[in-house]
Amino acid sequence: MKHLRLGVNIDHVATIRNARGGVHPDPLRAAKMAEEAGADGITAHLREDRRHIADGDITKLAANLSIPLNFEMAATQEMLDIALMHTPHAACLVPEKREERTTEGGLDVVGSKDALAYYVSSLRSKNIRVSLFIEPDAKQLEAAADLGADIVEFHVGPFCDAVSGDKQAAELKRIQQGAEVAEKLGIECHCGHGLTYDTVAPIAQIPTVVELNIGHFLIGEAIFSGLVPAIQKMRHLMDEARAQIPEA
Ligand code: PXP
Repeated sequence: MKHLRLGVNIDHVATIRNARGGVHPDPLRAAKMAEEAGADGITAHLREDRRHIADGDITKLAANLSIPLNFEMAATQEMLDIALMHTPHAACLVPEKREERTTEGGLDVVGSKDALAYYVSSLRSKNIRVSLFIEPDAKQLEAAADLGADIVEFHVGPFCDAVSGDKQAAELKRIQQGAEVAEKLGIECHCGHGLTYDTVAPIAQIPTVVELNIGHFLIGEAIFSGLVPAIQKMRHLMDEARAQIPEA
């Protein structure tokens, strides 16, 4: 079974740093430790209000990482200019509202197709792989394919947050069906948002999902166990779940 990539999102190392100002804890140091712990990539979201990751973090990450950087960004000219300057391995376009606590909901690719086309083509023209953060919805997937996106990342927050078994099963089904549609459309499928030790296995077991992006839970867990053990445990749970998929 194909290796399931783990992208570690280090935004909240910057959140803790920014609580006091100064330079500690350093997101680049966390990224390097994540790399040692087995992360396949690093994800960082430079938000419009710079509430966690700062411009200088992106400069340092782009210059010093030996694993791919996935740059999460809103579809704005300012962020596009920054992406084109650093040419990360991938850019993940996400919706962004200043007042939200985190990324709430996926992009409306159907409704903003014309506006997004400019960002997708500008990034792709510099060989930056483009990912669109969407709900696992066939219409959104088709619009993403029409735009020529390389990747879709499914917002799995509703699955992770579901409290009832029925709701969780329904959300999982939506993600599984979305992954099938992505495969048919020839788009690489990633998942992220809200994943924890308790929710990662069913997502890791979807055979066509190739990458998970996980941040907040890992940084929180690092307080108790340390960053490297937290990432190693997540890696182990992903591998264990993946090994249970029957060979086709
Ligand atoms: N993927 C995307 C597109 C996100 O916006 C986020 C949150 O910044 C994540 C993954 C990581 O989510 P979490 O921090 O809840 O693990």
